[in-house]
Amino acid sequence: MGKLDGKVAIVTGGSRGQGASHVRKFVDEGAKVVFTDILENEGKELESELGENVKFIKHDVSNAEEWENVVNKTERTFGNVNILVNNAAFGKRSRIEDCSEEEYRKVIDVNQVGTFLGMKAVVSSMKQVEKGSIVNISSVEAFQVSGDAPIAYIASKYAVRGMTKSAALDFAEYGIRVNSVHPGAVKTAMLENADPEEYRKLEESIPLGKPADTEEISNMVAFLASDESSYSTGSEFLIDGGVSASL
Ligand SMILES: NC(=O)c1ccc[n+]([C@@H]2O[C@H](COP(=O)([O-])OP(=O)(O)OC[C@H]3O[C@@H](n4cnc5c(N)ncnc54)[C@H](O)[C@@H]3O)[C@@H](O)[C@H]2O)c1
Repeated sequence: MGKLDGKVAIVTGGSRGQGASHVRKFVDEGAKVVFTDILENEGKELESELGENVKFIKHDVSNAEEWENVVNKTERTFGNVNILVNNAAFGKRSRIEDCSEEEYRKVIDVNQVGTFLGMKAVVSSMKQVEKGSIVNISSVEAFQVSGDAPIAYIASKYAVRGMTKSAALDFAEYGIRVNSVHPGAVKTAMLENADPEEYRKLEESIPLGKPADTEEISNMVAFLASDESSYSTGSEFLIDGGVSASL
């Protein structure tokens, strides 16, 4: 028996990286999953690989109308929504002087406003089943700002940390839990193409000696999505190989 048997989930930014890993994990644990992304080709490929319990919808998380469409299609295809993972995000590593107003607003629009719109869009569907779990993906950088501080990305990830607590208090009366996950370095494509010397330095800086595999983050996300975490809400789950232990 899977820990997500009978659950209906929406995962954003699911075409690649950690989002794709969460989709795979959720399916393995028995969920029916709608995943969304702006990357259409990768999304369609993953959809056809994973079969009938998975549906891909092209979707920009910063667009409120598209959110309405995603929730309506999820309900029609699989039923009311039990789980939302707000995973989609992006950000260049721009310092203040190099970050245009346009870039700043775009990062906030996707990472922060997208998370707000997602929570707002699913709440009525979750209320129907009197239960729900929302997992907002933030970062260890919402606790500890790294040397080359990317202003917009960090602002958005601190915001997601606070929004999670606000939503948790708002939604508690409906039986809807909201928690944030704060990964440290994760082995996604970007890191795998890194300069070998930079990668070695990164490994040395992590007490557990390596960046996380995407599956290690997915295990945490699936736990929070499931009823196993039934008494956790408004909480922050750091998963960083020990990096923040020295804070
Ligand atoms: N990789 C890391 O080391 C790391 C560390 C801490 C936190 N995170 C967070 O983990 C999450 C997943 O990141 P990842 O490492 O898998 O990166 P990724 O770039 O591989 O995945 C992000 C996905 O979001 C999608 N996306 C971007 N803008 C979108 C939009 N407007 N609408 C819909 N989808 C959009 C992208 O197309 C991509 O598929 C992000 O929230 C990221 O901030 C990553």
